[in-house]
Amino acid sequence: MIKANLTFFTIIGFFVLNSCGTNQKNDQLDQRVNALLAQMTLEEKVGQMNQYSSFWDITGPIPKEGSAAKQYDQLKKGLVGSMLNVRGAENVRKLQKIAVEETRLGIPLIFGFDVIHGFKTISPIPLAEAASWDLEAIETSARIAATEAAAAGINWTFAPMVDISRDARWGRVMEGAGEDPYLGSKIAFARVKGFQGDDLSAPTTIAACAKHFAGYGFPEAGKEYNTVDIGTQTLHNMVMPPFKATIDAGVRTFMNSFSQLNGIPATGSKYLQRTLLKEQWNFDGFVVSDWGSIEEMVEHGYADDAKQAAQIAVEAGSDMDMQSLAYIDHLIDLVKSSAVPETLIDDAARRILRVKFELGLFDDPYKYCNAEREKSTIGHEKFQEVTLEMAKKSIVLLKNKNQLLPLKKKGLNIALIGDLADDKTSPLGNWILAADTNSAVSVLEGMKAYEGNNLEFSVGVKLHTGVLEFAKELNINTSDKSDFTAALNLAKTADVVVMVLGEHGFHSGEGRSRTQLGLPGLQQELLEQVFKVNQNIILVLNNGRPLVLDWADQHIPAIVEAWQLGTQSGNAIAQVLYGDYNPSGKLPMSFPKSIGQVPIYYNYKSTGRPTLPSPDEVFWTHYQDEQNAPLYPFGYGLSYTTFAYSNLKINSQNDTSIDVSVEVTNTGNVQGNEVVQLYVKDHFARPTQPIKSLKGFELVDLNPNQTKTVHFTLAEAELGFYDNDGKFIVQPGDFSIYVGGDSTTELNTKFKL
Ligand code: GLC
Repeated sequence: MIKANLTFFTIIGFFVLNSCGTNQKNDQLDQRVNALLAQMTLEEKVGQMNQYSSFWDITGPIPKEGSAAKQYDQLKKGLVGSMLNVRGAENVRKLQKIAVEETRLGIPLIFGFDVIHGFKTISPIPLAEAASWDLEAIETSARIAATEAAAAGINWTFAPMVDISRDARWGRVMEGAGEDPYLGSKIAFARVKGFQGDDLSAPTTIAACAKHFAGYGFPEAGKEYNTVDIGTQTLHNMVMPPFKATIDAGVRTFMNSFSQLNGIPATGSKYLQRTLLKEQWNFDGFVVSDWGSIEEMVEHGYADDAKQAAQIAVEAGSDMDMQSLAYIDHLIDLVKSSAVPETLIDDAARRILRVKFELGLFDDPYKYCNAEREKSTIGHEKFQEVTLEMAKKSIVLLKNKNQLLPLKKKGLNIALIGDLADDKTSPLGNWILAADTNSAVSVLEGMKAYEGNNLEFSVGVKLHTGVLEFAKELNINTSDKSDFTAALNLAKTADVVVMVLGEHGFHSGEGRSRTQLGLPGLQQELLEQVFKVNQNIILVLNNGRPLVLDWADQHIPAIVEAWQLGTQSGNAIAQVLYGDYNPSGKLPMSFPKSIGQVPIYYNYKSTGRPTLPSPDEVFWTHYQDEQNAPLYPFGYGLSYTTFAYSNLKINSQNDTSIDVSVEVTNTGNVQGNEVVQLYVKDHFARPTQPIKSLKGFELVDLNPNQTKTVHFTLAEAELGFYDNDGKFIVQPGDFSIYVGGDSTTELNTKFKL
């Protein structure tokens, strides 16, 4: 019976798919979906909407009691559509076998996993990759992650996270692409393309998931899961563009957000999931809830109980219930009591089945379960070089006074200080569920590869104590200074001190909001103590968010932003410190001078009193105790060479586009890569628009004294904005174009539209 059913759909598929061009492929695929749907009972359709996290150790005995036994029983009855947190070709095969060979219709499961920045070979955290502004490298990085994950049986990643955020207090800024919607949109597009490739049915591609829909990056006070109350201008012009970019890239799934947007939990928002996503954007994939977010509407005070939460969520367009059990426990009754029309269940199940067909899971449910391919793919040497390149491109040089960098390759006594300098786990970042601990190249190991200098290491101060777990609080050391003396003694005799300080990988990420953004624990004290005995310090930062570095900026001659760079971290950092790679990264988020400035971002609004009216007057937009400007602005990053911009001009303008060009020259004596950035200012607009907005960037590679002319074309997409109804409009008037190496550039030219 079961085999007959599978053969039935395969035969249908074979004749139909081969009978005409790919353009009607969707129609043919829909025919297969509808043919299957027509066979399904209400219970089986609701089962497709039910997702469980791995509820038992697949290598162990079958669960005989408790919730695991119930879930196992549902699995055998075809009442589970998806699993997450199951990995390994053989483990996935075991579960897939139950779904395909023991249930009535043999509908395969779709297996999801948080492949956020790598699977086993870990790339830099997404915020670091964003600092590269290198879309090709970012797409390749996602491609590698997909290849490894698919080899381990995964066919769906809960990535890219495309939440724009301006608030470094929020721990999940590490997972996104920073504060700007234009850069965020380009990166979102690249990541979806990287994960999904050109053929979703290939055994090396996986379905992507745009998350968290929507507004999650604007929690009040930067506090995790907190209320989001933003206006329509922020919603349409900051939050939505990266999500729309994933649609343009063909993303097949969305994940909604834990947060409530203006009083409505995202998972219960019909506006977000039906009106905007499924109707206006014509999204035909499916929406998965974020862990338990359906039932969490009860905690939000939005639903009386899980049953009402299930009704609200399915009416709002949440298609799959991740781990809250609200759907599997209540939807069948809700339909049978006519509280929920079965058409809503059909729509959700159809969407889920369509993605499974697109993945090829009906043609070969075990295509992702090839143990041989898993063994030969995961951790492959060829991935290391690409991950190393990505890591080097993600590094941002923040300061280099007296040209302390790059280091000479011989004859130096170098003191390497900091707990993070020989940490092989922290550089992997936060989302490392499939990675091996201690699998990163440490800074100590990377620098030891350069044997011409005398390198000695001292821990300086322990950063944390106790357990290091994804779901547990991090215990920061605030009392043990027993390692200070040895570090100070080493620093005294060194020619140069390299200090690796910052956050552990588990100090940012989900559930990791902070109210202070300085160097955690006793690191700042250590830095100041070392500075007293040796001022030749190179500060290498490992962190998952912008930090407050005002003291360091005033005292430390060289500062390198090295985020959490993944498996090849230590090699990338060493190659930059020694000048074998000239740093080219640019900040995707503003770094504040003080915590009180946060949230701080470059594309702010003018206000009615933007400038000081007269000396010492107070009636203007400012603080009494801090400047308005950040310490390091969006788009900022230095190089070992220098660049000059000239000859910015508008070459042509017609009623559809404007051609702009600028000359960029390498005015130093080493090769360098520059991210040429173009910002647009719409001087007068209704509603008001930011004082400037990133609308173009180009990476240029220049040898010493070389000049290149960079062209930009501005069209409606770059000159318009969304009004308060979410309608894209372009208003005529006065505009300025700014071009330079960061968002503070003053080089500009004007035009009228
Ligand atoms: C988490 C995260 C989400 C992740 C999901 C599954 O709570 O918010 O980003 O994909 O659960 O692990």
